[in-house]
Amino acid sequence: MGLLELKSIKKTYFLGSSVWGKRKIVEAVKNVSLTLEEGVCLGLVGESGSGKSTLGKILLGLEKPDQGEVWFQGRNLYNLKAKELKELRRNLQVVFQDCYSAVNPRLTVGEIIAEPLRNYERLTSAQEKKKVQEFLEIVGLCLEDIHKYPHHFSGGQLQRINIARAIALKPKLIILDEAVSALDVLVQVQILNLLAQLKEEFQLSYLFISHDLQAVNYIADRLAVMYKGEVVERLDDMEQLERLEHPVSKKLLSSVLPPYPSGERLGIINNMTKISL
Ligand SMILES: Nc1ncnc2c1ncn2[C@@H]1O[C@H](COP(=O)(O)OP(=O)(O)OP(=O)(O)O)[C@@H](O)[C@H]1O
Ligand SMILES: [Mg+2]
Repeated sequence: MGLLELKSIKKTYFLGSSVWGKRKIVEAVKNVSLTLEEGVCLGLVGESGSGKSTLGKILLGLEKPDQGEVWFQGRNLYNLKAKELKELRRNLQVVFQDCYSAVNPRLTVGEIIAEPLRNYERLTSAQEKKKVQEFLEIVGLCLEDIHKYPHHFSGGQLQRINIARAIALKPKLIILDEAVSALDVLVQVQILNLLAQLKEEFQLSYLFISHDLQAVNYIADRLAVMYKGEVVERLDDMEQLERLEHPVSKKLLSSVLPPYPSGERLGIINNMTKISL
């Protein structure tokens, strides 16, 4: 069994009624089944509106599926008592695209990163400070940043803060929903780089949601393509990108530079590390 298993997930939104009284609906996710193994980064790509974020929200318990099951670490997420769910949720974190709205502007960086620690661990303030500083360092920020507020930071730096908060509890899985999409290309590479290093260091698994196959190609080990609420194609080896067949995959592929063999891809990432860190 994988770390995460989605079984026949379905989610429909009701948008009210037309003038003729007919109910208007959007089938955001239709019968999606997916498995994510431990230590793997699964790229979930698809055009805007294909249902990627809805699927992510269902995994996080932010939306309830109409049908289907979500199994995480061998437990059915929607069959747990509140206390059990809270314990399981510490292993399931998220980083969203909008790094500004993801943080409370009135909290210092130290408080933002300490938030999950306060929810789950009983630390003295000295222990908490030490941990927060450790994570600031891990994500490439300065120790003095602990006292600053979100408005002091660029988008890339703020996304590093969001990543520090997501890894603070050393989770098993992080859902990255368009986590680099709003950033400049160079900053995107730096953050992808950081994510790749963290994945190795903390044995993380990622569900990397993006409309940008190029970013996915940088970081993902496997790929699933969504179209109109369905997974229409999967790939277990990113070196076989050119074998994608579905028209929507081909359309996404046309925006990608010639695919690099994984060694070279990593080479690019490592070169960028030297520049960025
Ligand atoms: N809360 C909601 N109420 C009504 N419709 C919704 C809601 N959330 C999503 N939808 C609709 O469900 C469909 C899938 O949306 P979703 O946000 O999952 O797509 P996406 O693949 O993440 O798109 P994007 O790449 O633009 O982020 C869309 O048609 C969207 O308009
Ligand atoms: Mg989305």
